[in-house]
Amino acid sequence: MNSAYRPRAASPAVRAAIAIAVTVAILAAVIATTPGQAYLWIKSLHVVAIISWMAGMLYLPRLFVNHCSVAVGSPESVLLKGMEQRLLRIILNPAMIIAWVTGLWMAWSVFGFHGGWLHGKLALVLVLSGVHGHLSASVRAFAEDRNRYSERTWRVLNEVPALLMIGIVVLVIVKPF
Ligand code: HEM
Repeated sequence: MNSAYRPRAASPAVRAAIAIAVTVAILAAVIATTPGQAYLWIKSLHVVAIISWMAGMLYLPRLFVNHCSVAVGSPESVLLKGMEQRLLRIILNPAMIIAWVTGLWMAWSVFGFHGGWLHGKLALVLVLSGVHGHLSASVRAFAEDRNRYSERTWRVLNEVPALLMIGIVVLVIVKPF
């Protein structure tokens, strides 16, 4: 059986541009149609996006843990490649873009990018986005059967998004500084 999983889709840059354009259009429509309430509607969208993003960030490394223990070229490997690529393309990437666009709008419109908690949160979200980039590269590596990490390493890496999430949520809700 051919072990390569080849999705039929536009390039990542085109998909990212479409997701940004659609999110900005939704933001503009919400601001125009819900004067006075726009912030709460956009914050709701932000929270839905981060739940989706985090669900994917916690699940993808679990798929990698399973992928490490199946034989290259096996039907299980082909199945996992498809699951990993669809999770990245359909959930993780759009959710990250919506979280960034809505989050930056809130940070600008109400907080003017001021506040120690906000700067701390942005720093942790940048690290989280770097982890996202690493997971995205790893989806490609698994698709081409050239993953370099052991099952144990993926189990440890699986904890990184969870730890970042805890720090981010405490910073934005407690606002300790
Ligand atoms: C992607 C870049 C992000 C930016 C620029 C950003 C920025 C913001 C801003 C400015 C608020 C409004 C805070 C308030 O109204 O008090 C907010 C709300 C929130 N953010 Fe983010 N955020 C981002 C990503 C995330 C991530 C990754 C998480 C969780 C892992 C998260 C969790 C939350 C939560 C739970 C709220 C609601 C807080 C509340 O209403 O008390 N955000 N975000």
